[in-house]
Amino acid sequence: MARYELVKRSVALITLTNPPVNALSSAVRHAIAKSMEHALNDPKVTAVVIYGENGRFCGGADIREFAGPLRGPPLVPLLDAIEAGEKPVVAAIEGVALGGGFELALVCHYRIAHFKARLGLPEVTLGILPAAGGTQRLPRLIGIPAALELITTGRHISAQEALKLGIVDQVTEQNACEVAVEFALRAVAKPLSSRRVSTLTTPCPPDLDALLEAVTMQVKKKARGAMAPLACVQAVRAAATMPYSKGIKRESELMATLFNSGQARALQYCFFAQRTAGKWTLPSGAQWNNSKPREIRRAAVIGLGTMGRGIVVSLARVGISVIAVESEKKLLETGKQMVIGMLERDAKRQGVSASLNLLKFTLSLQDLKDVDIVIEAVFEDMALKKHVFQELSKVCRPATLLCSNTSGLDVDALAGVTDRPHLVVGMHFFSPAHVMKLLEVVCGPRSSSETIATAMSLGKRMGKVSVAVGNCPGFVGNRMLKPYLDQATFLLEEGATPEQIDKALEDFGFAMGVFRMSDLAGLDVGWRVRKESGLTGPDIDPKNPPRRRQGHRYCPIPDMVCEQGRFGQKTGRGWYMYDSPGGTNAKSDPLIQNLLEMYRSRYGIQPRNISDQEIIERCLFALANEGFRILEDGIAARPEDIDVIYLFGYGFPRHRGGPMFYASMVGLERVLERLEHYHQAHPDVPHLEPSPLLKKLVACGSPPVQNWREHIKTMHSHL
Ligand code: 3HC
Ligand code: NAI
Repeated sequence: MARYELVKRSVALITLTNPPVNALSSAVRHAIAKSMEHALNDPKVTAVVIYGENGRFCGGADIREFAGPLRGPPLVPLLDAIEAGEKPVVAAIEGVALGGGFELALVCHYRIAHFKARLGLPEVTLGILPAAGGTQRLPRLIGIPAALELITTGRHISAQEALKLGIVDQVTEQNACEVAVEFALRAVAKPLSSRRVSTLTTPCPPDLDALLEAVTMQVKKKARGAMAPLACVQAVRAAATMPYSKGIKRESELMATLFNSGQARALQYCFFAQRTAGKWTLPSGAQWNNSKPREIRRAAVIGLGTMGRGIVVSLARVGISVIAVESEKKLLETGKQMVIGMLERDAKRQGVSASLNLLKFTLSLQDLKDVDIVIEAVFEDMALKKHVFQELSKVCRPATLLCSNTSGLDVDALAGVTDRPHLVVGMHFFSPAHVMKLLEVVCGPRSSSETIATAMSLGKRMGKVSVAVGNCPGFVGNRMLKPYLDQATFLLEEGATPEQIDKALEDFGFAMGVFRMSDLAGLDVGWRVRKESGLTGPDIDPKNPPRRRQGHRYCPIPDMVCEQGRFGQKTGRGWYMYDSPGGTNAKSDPLIQNLLEMYRSRYGIQPRNISDQEIIERCLFALANEGFRILEDGIAARPEDIDVIYLFGYGFPRHRGGPMFYASMVGLERVLERLEHYHQAHPDVPHLEPSPLLKKLVACGSPPVQNWREHIKTMHSHL
């Protein structure tokens, strides 16, 4: 777990050996303690270098150990002892120094970083704070404002930025360990007192209280209910106002309030869920680690609308050459300008030149003969998409992968019109595609494992979090959205307002409530889908009871809003009003209040007071209930995949862990009981009827979310 060797006759080199990230597990802490003791006691040793094997200094505490009782030496006294030692200790940082790894570097008397290294205190993203002295040492080293920013955001910084901030003493392009050993030899004769960061006085700005107040307000607004960022501010305040010995106690008290909190558990669950999601498995046995992806060098994107442009940009950013196809000259030109603009802005930010030579714009599918992959992003119209796929079959070489960015159509039906159904897969990006991290890779029954592996790996290369899902209307994310949206509009009928529902959801932690989000996405999109699925429009049988469709409760209010030409932000009016079309500042609109009142009186609905609790339960339990059905149907392989989709695609608050984790935190028994209650009150809403899987899990004693898979095994998989 740590190798000890003597180099250059007098330097003790301690190398952490805990792959893959040299996390500070109990065994590693034990090995460091023993090695340091040896080094400090051996008269031959004049200096120490701490290094990490495989080009990674240290990824911090071993997060997997957080679930159990503390074993092995605690970190704080271990680190304090390294700092207090009488021999100079140099950190040789390659790869990463994160969390406890960064704190380990901070107790070393000198820090040498490789130019590609990244440093940071990401604890806040795990619902905790840097509790091995990080909140006390970093402000002493770089001052309060910079330390606050790094600790409350968890941002990783480059070696160059660390040098500028005064965190590292030297950045090198050579082997950091060799440089550190030479550095250590030179440091032997120098006094250490000024190098012990915990003994420094924190440089304090004169307006400390005002600064801390301003940061607290800022953090509160951004954190949307997350506790850890606020605790981080308090810990940094202690570094400014207390000596180290007291500050470290305050740090530990604050950590105790966070460590066992539901938020910390949720955020740590998210960390592992994100990593699990990439590990797809098919019932055939093909999976992420036994299926080889194809190399993708040339891609094509068809349709340069909202989605196509973002997809082209995301591909070009990672060095893939792209041919972009449009249907008309004018649209091609507009799309081209937008793409070039986005790439130029990117390049300006990074101070490099835009890779425009990777791009080609055309009106002809004939130009796609030699591409490795095509991603289609034309209108959501099955007939049009089928036509495009038929044409692609004729034009592209037989090995070209054909993918669709459809947001919910049958991927297998598209595969069926091609000459290569095994090479067809859905690649469902989210808007705006050059920003949003989620990619649903939709596996049809005929998609080959190589095709899935290629789409998953391409997504990863594009910086996306890719999740493999099965083929059904709406796949995972949009399928679950329907019951969530339905509940919100039913609540409007019953007496709530868009403002009240949005506020309840935003207080829960969503970046945007459901109505503000719908205004942003555009209300016409859903309206078109409802018309196409026969739920609204002129062809509806007038004998239909007004608030029922296809045998179930139906809320026509969203259709009424659209009939008035209110399509959301883009038209300046939607569920809210905006200063102008394209505006983002949502204000309550009395016309919507009138519409709701008239609607209720027309149908004799007596509005009632609806509590925030009911809003949360009906929207989110209906959402999770559909998630259980998706697991039952084998459309998602595990609850982690669903949660990752909601975290990265739909703004679900990370400190709640995702809809499925949230359900498990509330308690499955309670979720079941509330769904039964609401279903009894609204028997014509099938989404409120508890799913068989939820009932089964409750009957099995509500196992933790990580164990649900064992109970789903026997059911059918669409993956
Ligand atoms: N503890 C336990 N496991 C860890 C870990 C950690 N700190 N960091 C990474 N891992 C595991 C991952 O789960 C993954 O496991 P898997 O192969 O079984 O899926 C494996 O290591 C590789 O991780 P990645 O897939 O993330 O590898 P990357 O190369 O993409 O990224 C990384 C490497 C940047 C180090 C990234 O893993 C990371 O951000 N790790 C977490 C860093 C962190 O948050 N550290 C703070 C921990 S809390 C702390 O230190 C408290 C202290 O203040 C007391
Ligand atoms: P859009 O209407 O903005 O763009 C579609 C583009 O395709 C238009 O520019 C159109 O001219 C072009 N086009 C149509 N037929 C063509 C053809 N035969 N050849 C070349 N170009 C053609 O639509 P948007 O929003 O970009 O959606 C595209 C696809 O992405 C749809 O399937 C949609 O469901 C899906 N999607 C949309 C999301 C969104 O938020 N807008 C999110 C995720 C997926």
